[in-house]
Amino acid sequence: MKLHGKHILLGVSGGIAAYKSAELARGLIKAGAEVQVILTAGAEAFITPLTFQALTGRAVRTELLDETAEQGMGHIELARWADLILLAPATANLLARLNAGMADDLLTTVVLASKAPLAIAPAMNQQMWANVATQRNIKALTDLYQPLWLGPDSGEQACGDVGAGRMMEPDAIVAQLEQQATASGAWQGKKVVITAGPTREAVDPVRYLTNHSSGKMGYALAAEAARQGAEVVLISGPVNLPTPAGVRRIDVISARDMAAAAEEYAPATDLFIGAAAVADYHVVNTSNQKHKKQASDQAWTLQLAENPDIIQGVAQHKRRPTTVVGFAAETTDVEQYARDKLARKNLDWIVANDVSRTDIGFNSDDNQVVVFGRNGLRSDLPQQSKTQLASALLALFTKD
Ligand code: C5P
Repeated sequence: MKLHGKHILLGVSGGIAAYKSAELARGLIKAGAEVQVILTAGAEAFITPLTFQALTGRAVRTELLDETAEQGMGHIELARWADLILLAPATANLLARLNAGMADDLLTTVVLASKAPLAIAPAMNQQMWANVATQRNIKALTDLYQPLWLGPDSGEQACGDVGAGRMMEPDAIVAQLEQQATASGAWQGKKVVITAGPTREAVDPVRYLTNHSSGKMGYALAAEAARQGAEVVLISGPVNLPTPAGVRRIDVISARDMAAAAEEYAPATDLFIGAAAVADYHVVNTSNQKHKKQASDQAWTLQLAENPDIIQGVAQHKRRPTTVVGFAAETTDVEQYARDKLARKNLDWIVANDVSRTDIGFNSDDNQVVVFGRNGLRSDLPQQSKTQLASALLALFTKD
């Protein structure tokens, strides 16, 4: 009964997978949840409100402008009641409407009016799933809500196509939500400091040196740690990402700024994660004026000096955080370099990924990593979204 007492608002939209949501509602109730169902107009074409009413024991809501229903739990009350909003199946149309911020039916209105976390199980034809418009909506919704994405699964589809787009099986959805529920609160009251993104090293007032880090992994970790109850400080280089809910964000530009912020916030905390791709060098011969182009035979030499190693400073501090975690982005001999950094920087864990692959790592929404622990532990985490990976990593770090 891991979902005991949890208020789950199950939003069902109009896809053939809607019939599976009846089984999903049953599974959620068996796991102890209280379930309130909202059907979109499209969903009603596939399954009747009566089915869900019989399963959940609650009147199913379908209309936004329904006087009788609003006399009971109004749409704003529904939005407040929910501890979690689960959209299953979520059609391409629902994802597009949510991304546009529309409130053109009860379900989109409740999502817009609610602070509850979202879990989304997309289901659609494989070509619709692969379409750039759908993928753009997925990406934008990830930035907007940091939802838990559930699937879609791959395989044979109702329309006869084969590919990604099948709704995740109801029992697998329930299992994922149970796992999340167990994790939530795992970092309650703990102090967590995370560095994220690239740093920028000034050359002159208009130019700088930097790298390809997007900050997505560090931001996903910050969002997840906050969701699990931690007090999170996110020391962020220049990135194009919204601040995750409940996270205190300290913006910095250069590695030396980041080192100063780490020195201020990291000592004596419970967990420090160095997810930033810190520039190893800064420019010594910077100029206060824009450097003008010289005659073509004149080379311009930049003199570089090493930046402080932030994580090493944190890990050697006399008030060292309980757990210090580094990242190792490598292109060759991943394990050897990662283990070497683990020891040299005095870390408890190192998360290694192969950045020579273009489908994971830098700037990508997915990552696949191998984690090495001080205690000799090795954990291979399969390719998954950075949000899901953040949850798996935090579960690992609680073992310290
Ligand atoms: O040595 P390398 O840069 O590969 O180590 C990567 C790890 O060290 C990451 O966790 C990164 O955030 C951290 N690091 C740091 N300060 C630096 C360089 C790297 O904190 N100057």
